Amino acid sequence: MKKITISVIKADVGSIGGHTQPSAAMLRIARERVQGAIGNLLNDGTVTHTGDDIALIMSHRRGVGAREIHHFAWECFLAATDQARQSGLYGAGQDLLVDAPSGNVRGAGPAVAEIEFERDPRSKHRPAECFLLFAADKCGPGAYNFPLYSTFCDPMHNGGLLLNPKMHQGFTLTIIDMDHHAHDSDRVIRLNVPERVWDVACLLQNPDRFAIEAVHSRCVPDEQVASISATRLHNIAGKYTGKDDPIALVRTQGIFPAPEEVVEPWLLGHFVSGDCRGSHVMPIMPVAINTPVAGAYCLPIVSCIAFSMDSEGLFSGEMIDLFGNVAWDSVRLKVQQKADEWRRQGCIGATMASHAELAYTGIIETLQALDKEFAMRHESLIASGDGARPASS
Ligand code: 13P
Ligand code: MG
Ligand code: MG
Repeated sequence: MKKITISVIKADVGSIGGHTQPSAAMLRIARERVQGAIGNLLNDGTVTHTGDDIALIMSHRRGVGAREIHHFAWECFLAATDQARQSGLYGAGQDLLVDAPSGNVRGAGPAVAEIEFERDPRSKHRPAECFLLFAADKCGPGAYNFPLYSTFCDPMHNGGLLLNPKMHQGFTLTIIDMDHHAHDSDRVIRLNVPERVWDVACLLQNPDRFAIEAVHSRCVPDEQVASISATRLHNIAGKYTGKDDPIALVRTQGIFPAPEEVVEPWLLGHFVSGDCRGSHVMPIMPVAINTPVAGAYCLPIVSCIAFSMDSEGLFSGEMIDLFGNVAWDSVRLKVQQKADEWRRQGCIGATMASHAELAYTGIIETLQALDKEFAMRHESLIASGDGARPASS
């Protein structure tokens, strides 16, 4: 039985009136290309957007990192960029950070989440296939640290870890150091939970540097549960060019968590790095698929859609928009109120992103200029009563 791969490749290549959403014409171009590829390159495919990011959601038999699939996605984004440019849209081609990627688009700007698996209806442990796709806008990959930790490590959030004997055997988490800058290597650690949960927590505590990149089952060891696009655009570009806006694919049911267990942590509206200019710490709001970013601040948002897939890799006929449901209305209201209250503090301290994050923004030039104006005040001056007088102005 040949394996199926789900590949989701996402990029911001332009949006209307600011960082809101792609135009209908851009989405039409992407959809026409995906439709045209079904039956040859792709088994199935669909196109969505979350804020200003376009997601190409595809199934195929060419494996993870397949050059033809990545090239196809890049060409879709180039065509949508042309359209954005013609219409004078903002940030045309924003996430296409290299001239032409060498095969794989990972590290070239677009976010990538992919999982390959055997799709066999006679399989004992996986007769049906369901998966969730999360797409977050205005934030970094660490946005998934809290919800994924809660889902895979914490029975207080996910009772399935106690109730399902398959899940009780634990998971292997692959965590990546996103500050590792080498172009030809990644720095990763694989930790088994529950044995290593406190080590996992120590790393995930710093979501600007460490993020979960993959989760594998331990009861059926080759089965990958989750894939997350854990790359930082500022490490590729060397400066702030827009936020990473990460996606996460999570397979569900059977030996994996149920969808309701995976979405439960998103009730909190946890704080993430991102928001306006990617430079704040703000709560993230679950929203319906194809929602623009239109509120104050550029609040971080996340969508979540659920699919089933047949043995031929077909999935796009119907999907469920989990965060579009009325059940999430009260969370949206709470998150907006939380954001309003929090941002009243302006730019002082914790409301703005850490200095490691801000290092890629313009504030650094001002701090460097001010640094030269600092003077040393010696103890003798203080004793003589001259200490309060500035040395120069
Ligand atoms: P995006 O990363 O979604 O383009 O947002 C960038 C930004 O700076 C918004 O203020
Ligand atoms: Mg944008
Ligand atoms: Mg975006």
